[in-house]
Amino acid sequence: MTAIQPDILIGQEELRRRVEELGQQISDHYRAIDEMPVLVSVLKGSAIFLADLIRALDIDVRLDFMSISSYGDGSASGVVRIVKDLEESIEGRHVLVVEDIVDTGLTLNYLRRTLGSRQPASLRAVTLLDKAVRRLIPVELEWAGFEIPDVFVLGYGLDHNGIYRNVRYIFATEDITSLVGDPNMYVPALFSSSDGPRPL
Ligand code: IMP
Repeated sequence: MTAIQPDILIGQEELRRRVEELGQQISDHYRAIDEMPVLVSVLKGSAIFLADLIRALDIDVRLDFMSISSYGDGSASGVVRIVKDLEESIEGRHVLVVEDIVDTGLTLNYLRRTLGSRQPASLRAVTLLDKAVRRLIPVELEWAGFEIPDVFVLGYGLDHNGIYRNVRYIFATEDITSLVGDPNMYVPALFSSSDGPRPL
């Protein structure tokens, strides 16, 4: 049986270059206002982007983490529960939310409202991927790495059923029905097993 090959949407080199550019733009912004941002990363998807972005910043920063989950019918309701809150107060601080992907905009909208109510000095957001065509609610986004079409993407932090976060590039699946039926469908093409070495 031949393994189902992933369809690469954004390769490693393109990711590296764009994250470097975002790092420069964000550094320039906070340097110009002479303020140190607190980066708020929303677990788990943004962890990989964050790890690369923070090393592309040449300014002093702090880091905090949040984890949220949607109630009942998934993110479609826009009703979100905080599973893990920030460790430090953001009152009077310059907050930069780091997201992996903005899709309907409901999650970022919730985060902006919640964090905004805690009286930060400023509140900005950066996302690696922006699926703008899917937006259900307009949401402010100060920096975006790539605008992508309406396809389900995986890799570089993004998962399905917890799988594929550690793939080094971003790939798209147009066959979401097959993926839901078999969440492991790309595993033979991407990862090694006891039967053989890791595929390229
Ligand atoms: P929202 O629709 O903007 O609220 O995004 C909700 C969440 O859905 C994101 O933070 C991701 O975790 C997830 N998501 C949306 N689109 C994709 C995708 O293409 N691949 C993987 N996760 C996605």
